[in-house]
Amino acid sequence: MSNNEVNRTRRNLLIATSVVGGAGVATAAWPFIASMTPSAKAKGLGAPVDVDISKLEPGAKLTVAWQGKPVWIISRTTEMLDRLIKHDDRLTDPKSESSIQPEYCKNPYRSIKHEFMVAVGICTHLGCSPSDKLKPESDNETGPNWDGGFYCPCHGSRFDLATRVFNGSPAPTNLVIPPHKYLSATLIRIGDDSKGA
Ligand code: FES
Repeated sequence: MSNNEVNRTRRNLLIATSVVGGAGVATAAWPFIASMTPSAKAKGLGAPVDVDISKLEPGAKLTVAWQGKPVWIISRTTEMLDRLIKHDDRLTDPKSESSIQPEYCKNPYRSIKHEFMVAVGICTHLGCSPSDKLKPESDNETGPNWDGGFYCPCHGSRFDLATRVFNGSPAPTNLVIPPHKYLSATLIRIGDDSKGA
């Protein structure tokens, strides 16, 4: 097995987890990313990263790095999924026709397995990283009738739990969905959706 292949098969470390109901910290900067595999060299080359989601609790989110960008994986509950289909009329691009995602994620949930959302956590306006607003609780930042999602503190863009942007946000499109695939029920490969392992 070559070094590249070894790097490709190493699992990524879970680096940040936020749970629904946990204290959210609004930050415009990308989250600090702890020591990771694969190597920095491999990351610079855009190597895929494998993420173990076996310990991801329902309703929680973890962040990993891929190509130097934060990638979110959100474990969506049935209640979270139900809330996603109720506000299309408030979205800029509800069917993701102007947004970037693999064809297999061009659906209302923007996912392969709808209980797991995978998205690049960078605002499509000017590149800040939105904050978690996962609970359906309105505040000054989310505005009224909040169904859960994300809020970008830089200029106020708001996204739902499928990372679709709400009307009135400066962000023009939904967040980017990276190519990915499931290697098993608990292992996701980010950055590679080719057939086979
Ligand atoms: S960078 Fe997110 S709203 Fe401007």
